[in-house]
Amino acid sequence: MAPCIDFVFMAFGLLLLLIAVTTSRPITRPKVFDVRSYGAKGDGKMDNTNAFTNAWKDACRWNGPSKMYIPLGTFYLGGVTFVGPCDGKISFVIDGTLLAPPNNDDIKKEIWINFRYINYLTVFGDGTLDGQGKKSWSLIDCQKDNNCPKLAINMGFDFVKNSSMNGITSLNSKAGHFNFLSVDHFSITRVNIIAPSNSPNTDGIKIALSSNMQISNTHISTGDDCIAMLSGNTNFDIYNVKCGPGHGISIGSLGKNKDEKNVNGLMVRNSVFTGTTNGIRIKTWESSASTIRIINLVYENLQMINVENPIGIDQKYCPYPPCSNMGDSHIQIRNVTLKNIWGTSKNKVAVKFQCSKTFPCKDVQLIDINLTHHGVDGPASALCENVDGSATGKMVPPHCLS
Ligand SMILES: *[C@@H]1O[C@H](CO)[C@@H](O)[C@H](O)[C@H]1NC(C)=O
Ligand SMILES: *[C@@H]1O[C@H](CO)[C@@H](O)[C@H](O)[C@H]1NC(C)=O
Ligand SMILES: *[C@@H]1O[C@H](CO)[C@@H](O)[C@H](O)[C@H]1NC(C)=O
Repeated sequence: MAPCIDFVFMAFGLLLLLIAVTTSRPITRPKVFDVRSYGAKGDGKMDNTNAFTNAWKDACRWNGPSKMYIPLGTFYLGGVTFVGPCDGKISFVIDGTLLAPPNNDDIKKEIWINFRYINYLTVFGDGTLDGQGKKSWSLIDCQKDNNCPKLAINMGFDFVKNSSMNGITSLNSKAGHFNFLSVDHFSITRVNIIAPSNSPNTDGIKIALSSNMQISNTHISTGDDCIAMLSGNTNFDIYNVKCGPGHGISIGSLGKNKDEKNVNGLMVRNSVFTGTTNGIRIKTWESSASTIRIINLVYENLQMINVENPIGIDQKYCPYPPCSNMGDSHIQIRNVTLKNIWGTSKNKVAVKFQCSKTFPCKDVQLIDINLTHHGVDGPASALCENVDGSATGKMVPPHCLS
């Protein structure tokens, strides 16, 4: 019986394969718009801003799939905005290096390379965005000065939908590396982000008012947050991320401005933090202008290697003191699961929940935590203020939830 059944299955399988092959449509090759055909030169000197803008215009107007192509070479590029909507699916392929003006004033924009109002955009390639930030980093000290000069972000996506970014390297941005605003259905994968640990305000990926995003297989070494989630983000899945050096994966800071929106649904999993100042943290201003919620968060399978503050909720965030006598944070944090988080904490306090007195954190669940500290000040400890929750499984340090 058995061989006969095998034969029937095999014949059936072949038939299905045949149907699949004969009915699949031929792949439409995208029309290529090579920046060199628009006069671009990869000599690291000539300003290619106009050539890139003109190539984009034609690619975006092409009624069908199109591909704007940047070959190997070093293409000096001023501030550019690539605006849609486009007439077809569009890809932006970078094989070479895009070189930013070293002087921030020569960019004349908040974002060096900015994509706006586009659906079905794919940014990919083995190329590099070199922000040449070194010269401008020394000019700013935003730790002390709230009104420090605004430097350009390497690449931004505003109102971009059903799109993706794959494989790009962002190097030495002046301010943040990548910014996302009002983006929906976007996947980021295999991206490399590199800047020194002492480069100020070089957030890796900064996101606001966006939804349905995935960040995976991405390596972030930078001087500020690896990933910063701001107001109005929903349904995020972050996995296989390597963070460090950097300030960890953060929600916030939130609470400073009136019009902020809820953060709802964030999963951070299977990731490693190496030598970062923070692992995962949520920070809200001590005195908040907005009354919003940060809810439904899952942090799972995370390794902390020599992280200063592996787990932290800080609802007393006050970077420019004094902030006292201005009331408690009005931001409600609720339904946070922290599961299977292990490794080493540089500080004694490895788990810190400093929640709002008027809006205590609720439904915080700890499951299998093992964060050890090796220091003369004794083993790792946990700190709890205004937090309700539960703990199960192994628990190092001992929890302090009630
Ligand atoms: C984007 O994709 C989602 C899910 O596949 C779909 O529901 C939505 O309509 C798409 N949006 C656009 C602008 O095509
Ligand atoms: C808590 O958050 C998780 C993850 O988003 C979600 O699956 C679950 O339904 C939430 N629980 C409640 C009670 O809202
Ligand atoms: C926690 O991790 C340490 C170091 O890796 C290990 O020696 C210890 O057995 C672990 N503790 C628990 C309770 O799993």
